[in-house]
Amino acid sequence: MSLKEQLLGRVAEAPAHSGNKVTVVGVGQVGMACAFSILTQNVASEVALVDVVADKLKGEMLDLQHGSVFMRNARVLASTDYAVSANSRLCIVTAGARQKDGESRLDLVQRNTDIFKGIIPQLVKHSPDCILLIVSNPVDVMTYVAWKLSGFPKHRVIGSGTNLDSSRFRVLMSQRLNVAPSSVHGWIIGEHGDSSVPVWSGVNVAGVRLRELNPSLGAAEDKENWAEVHKQVVQSAYEVIRLKGYTSWAIGLSVATLTEAVLRNGGQVHAVSTVVQGYHGIDKEVFLSLPCVLSESGVSHIVKQPLTDEETAQLKRSADIMHEVQTRLKM
Ligand code: NAI
Ligand code: LAC
Repeated sequence: MSLKEQLLGRVAEAPAHSGNKVTVVGVGQVGMACAFSILTQNVASEVALVDVVADKLKGEMLDLQHGSVFMRNARVLASTDYAVSANSRLCIVTAGARQKDGESRLDLVQRNTDIFKGIIPQLVKHSPDCILLIVSNPVDVMTYVAWKLSGFPKHRVIGSGTNLDSSRFRVLMSQRLNVAPSSVHGWIIGEHGDSSVPVWSGVNVAGVRLRELNPSLGAAEDKENWAEVHKQVVQSAYEVIRLKGYTSWAIGLSVATLTEAVLRNGGQVHAVSTVVQGYHGIDKEVFLSLPCVLSESGVSHIVKQPLTDEETAQLKRSADIMHEVQTRLKM
């Protein structure tokens, strides 16, 4: 009799996988920030990692496994074979090229589309009922690509979108107000990128709308130049990329929060990329961020924010840019 048989009396077969398994594809800077945030915040108890670089993949798996004692015994798996992702509730895709200093997110679109052709069908094969959470850039177009490649209904394909931009927006405003970021409420919608849209009309602290205190908030004539805050949001990624070569921690934390909202069926509202056709007069089949109610089935509702004419026009411009990029794609 083996030591284990001497030690343990078998009662019943343990399930092969947990009910809240998450797969992360791409173990680069962003993928590992996502995995680390998810594991250390106890969002999921089983994380599968997939990448094409076998040694890096195994190294990241072992390094995380060695910390399992400190992560409530979370299980970390990894393989270049997508079978490791089987039965995932949520599959997070961070694989692909990132922009270099001077490149825009849109410059990455064809390279990452070609990469997705080898990833998305594999995830669908092994987890046909999962939610896809796309992070790779340009994330709005890449979410559209993932949707088309997956054949999933639109509510099960989500882009990390402007959840990150909205966080940056709130942090920068909180620094001006000396109020905690979580107490400054503000939404960035539209493209995760250069054409994102700040919803100045909705910015509030404790329900006090800042535009009621400063009617020119966000406008060119504003003496306090709050519009600079949104300019800083748009510049954030370029600045961090110039300084450290990539962005990772904020997006990792953002993705962990979105993952928790889905796995816990929480009904939280987050600005994520979804099909916006039919909202705010947009008639094109494009993904952009609007405030979405998240549940374990993905996007259950879109919040119909009242937008000013200016905000609506900016959102439509975002939609036109995405559609133009989509029409040039070789799917
Ligand atoms: P990275 O270069 O550090 O990691 C990319 C990983 O993808 C590498 O490990 C690489 O081996 C892997 N990969 C490449 N082709 C693959 C394939 N066919 N299958 C599986 N894995 C593959 O890049 P980083 O910094 O992690 O960025 C990843 C993506 O995330 C980029 O597109 C970047 O622009 C995007 N990103 C998106 C953000 C957002 O807010 N949506 C924020 C920050 C980055
Ligand atoms: C960001 C870029 C890289 O950090 O998408 O916003």
